[in-house]
Amino acid sequence: MSFIELARARYSCRTYEHRPVEQEHLDLVLEAGRIAPSAHNNHPTRVIVCDTPELRAKAAKAAYRFEHDGSVFGAPVVLIACAITDEAWVRRGDEMNSSLIDTSIVVDHMMMQATEFGLGTCWVCMFDPDIAREEFNMPEGVLPVSMLTMGYPADTIADPEAREARCIKREQFLSL
Ligand SMILES: Cc1cc2nc3c(=O)[nH]c(=O)nc-3n(C[C@H](O)[C@H](O)[C@H](O)COP(=O)(O)O)c2cc1C
Repeated sequence: MSFIELARARYSCRTYEHRPVEQEHLDLVLEAGRIAPSAHNNHPTRVIVCDTPELRAKAAKAAYRFEHDGSVFGAPVVLIACAITDEAWVRRGDEMNSSLIDTSIVVDHMMMQATEFGLGTCWVCMFDPDIAREEFNMPEGVLPVSMLTMGYPADTIADPEAREARCIKREQFLSL
């Protein structure tokens, strides 16, 4: 599949089969995140792999709105991408800290690599970061930014026309 085909095939999967994700696939998903670019090459992102019942339950406690079958959306794997804010590049002038951008690129790389393997994913920001910090004993300065649920989809992509209707129109995308 070309990249544009992969990008079109990806959708937010919120129902998963019980089938586990192969370790080789998980390893390459993590590798895609590890080699993602970051501002000034600072790599201020760390990933927690939740692939056991205990770890999935902790993730689901933080993302309690989406708890299902002891995991977030019932996914066999939940990746939690965390930003180490103090390790990120900061832009002079407006002091923009790059950690959220860098961490999001990591998540996007992992998400697209998972898509290539036929895995479903859902990017999740609606969780309680304080609960996540507590559940995973995160030290000071670590910000849990996003979760990525991952597993074999038990649903299917919405039909292409409905999907296109959800996307921003090209004219709007290219104008301010
Ligand atoms: C930064 C970000 C945060 C998101 N957070 C959530 C979330 O907390 N819960 C959820 O169900 N979907 C979440 N999503 C998924 C979006 O709702 C979804 O990508 C969007 O509706 C477009 O649908 P699609 O991914 O199927 O193309 C998030 C997506 C992004 C990029």
